[in-house]
Amino acid sequence: MKSLSKRMDHVSEALTLRIAARAKELSKQGRKVFFFSIGEPDFPTPRAIKDKGIEAIETDFTKYTAGSGIPELRKAISADLTGRLGLPYAPEEIAVTIGGKFAIAAAVLASCDPGDEVVIPLPCFPSYFDQARLAQAIPVPVTPSEENGFRLTRSQLEAVCTPRTKMLLLNTPHNPTGVVYSREDLAPLAAFIKESGIYAVADEVYERLIFGGQRHASLASFPEIRDQVFLVNSFSKTYCMTGWRIGYCAAPKALSSAVAAVQSHMNSSANSIAQWAAVGALEGSQEPVDRMLAVFERRRDLMVELASTIPDITFPRPDGAFYLFINITRYLGGRARNSFEAAMYLLEEHGLAVMPGSAFGTEGFIRLSYAVSDEDIRNGMQELKSGLEALR
Ligand SMILES: Cc1ncc(COP(=O)(O)O)c(C=O)c1O
Repeated sequence: MKSLSKRMDHVSEALTLRIAARAKELSKQGRKVFFFSIGEPDFPTPRAIKDKGIEAIETDFTKYTAGSGIPELRKAISADLTGRLGLPYAPEEIAVTIGGKFAIAAAVLASCDPGDEVVIPLPCFPSYFDQARLAQAIPVPVTPSEENGFRLTRSQLEAVCTPRTKMLLLNTPHNPTGVVYSREDLAPLAAFIKESGIYAVADEVYERLIFGGQRHASLASFPEIRDQVFLVNSFSKTYCMTGWRIGYCAAPKALSSAVAAVQSHMNSSANSIAQWAAVGALEGSQEPVDRMLAVFERRRDLMVELASTIPDITFPRPDGAFYLFINITRYLGGRARNSFEAAMYLLEEHGLAVMPGSAFGTEGFIRLSYAVSDEDIRNGMQELKSGLEALR
């Protein structure tokens, strides 16, 4: 028998799935599990959006659509980006995709040849590495300092770029740290992107989840690099639509058409029902988003307050998304040698499902999601405190 393709040599299903599966198993057995591992809002899709999906089914809006998405949705996305964020993308510059994840994969595939280098600041969304590898590109990790909230600086970017560098994958608000880049953080990166001519994916799927009334700064807002940026966004987190699988890429026509072309040959198009529901999400009341944001902000405050009582840990203060990324290196070396062993220990002994930092390319940390109830935050953080103590 012949072997599978070389591109699969380093691509695998995530280790973290083992944690998720074990957490579910324990929960099924009746154990109390704190699901701090969750990467999605714990709220249902808002009623009005569900109704739009039902309407699509009832009116037989259930056929193939254009590869780049239905005109109504591309128009609604264009209006949202222009009106709310001041990012003037025309409907023709939008490619609607199966989630933000596929938009990133398609952007990488569309721009990288085998052997091209893709710069990935760590920690990062776990799929970035494999998406680069699937395109036979070479992921080039760079680790910004924890003290700077893991924000990439121009000099760090410059130091890892070579003539083979094709692309930067930049995420703000950031998973797994919750850190948000300011415009001042982005400006020097934009200047370097311009000078070097590389592409950038601006992964901004959490851009509506920023606290304290702070405004989102987008890498796509620097006009001098407009031709080089694939802006990726999603309905998953903002509208609690993770299972609907709907997102998009906004970019100048040459780039967005390439993304749509990749998608057309792999998926035909995004799901017609989800597309119609997404029109409802953008054109309907935004009150559910505001309500969810207020809840996440309150939980962030609670989580930070409780985490601050645990000795010998550090974490960058999260200003967005719904994660806390905790440095637990001072608790490693005994019962647990690394973050994966610590995560397994916390799950088995304390019912705490957390993601190991290694899943995000950064050892010595765990990621806690606060897409759980206040009660679970209170009790779970108590468990974390005793669990970490027992690790030493
Ligand atoms: C940073 C980041 N980018 C992209 C995605 C992909 O989201 P989706 O494909 O559901 O739009 C996620 C989901 O967790 C994420 O955390």
